[in-house]
Amino acid sequence: MSGVLITFEGVEGSGKTTQMMRLERWLRRQGRKVEHTREPDGTRLGAEVRRLFERPGVQPQPLVEVFLFMAARQQHVAEKIRPWLDRGRVVLSDRYADATVAYQGYGRGVDPDVIRELNTRATGGVMPDLTLLFDLDPAEGLRRIRGRRLDRFEREALAFHRRVRRGYLEIRRAESKRVRLIHAARPPAVVEAEVRAIVEEFFRGA
Ligand code: TMP
Repeated sequence: MSGVLITFEGVEGSGKTTQMMRLERWLRRQGRKVEHTREPDGTRLGAEVRRLFERPGVQPQPLVEVFLFMAARQQHVAEKIRPWLDRGRVVLSDRYADATVAYQGYGRGVDPDVIRELNTRATGGVMPDLTLLFDLDPAEGLRRIRGRRLDRFEREALAFHRRVRRGYLEIRRAESKRVRLIHAARPPAVVEAEVRAIVEEFFRGA
């Protein structure tokens, strides 16, 4: 595998998706071969998993949520991420393995070590080379997405989103070289400039 996997993580409304698209355009202008994708719905199977969460009357237990996200992840790695990395691509993913630790681990109370173990299996060891963590007060994030049609997770109480944020910050504390913290409350252009600087520095060292 000669490519590079960069993942985008953060609480709802943190602006990670917008920043990922901006970074992709910038990397392409520099002549890099880039692919973008997202979880859970980066594959047809993953899209079905996301739809399943939205079905009326479907109430998965926390560990069932974990299994469903892991199923989507294994398919995603096999169908898309690994083949792209084998072709030397820069792969940008809007959420990946850390999301399950933050949401189902810290948010729902599943043992984070169990999730890490399952992540190792589901990804076959394909872990991000760099993770950009867009950190924001969840109250502000939820305010930003007000008016959109919200999914099951976005509709959770503020306390849930606060636990998710704390989870992401814990992940960052444990792996501060891979996970770079970005203060997402600032204007998008300022955030974008910092994202570029981090990614440039990453490629210089890679
Ligand atoms: P999105 O907001 O980036 O579209 O992500 C989809 C939702 O799925 C988001 O609310 C977070 C949630 N999610 C988890 O709870 N666990 C996971 O492992 C992943 C990938 C997403």
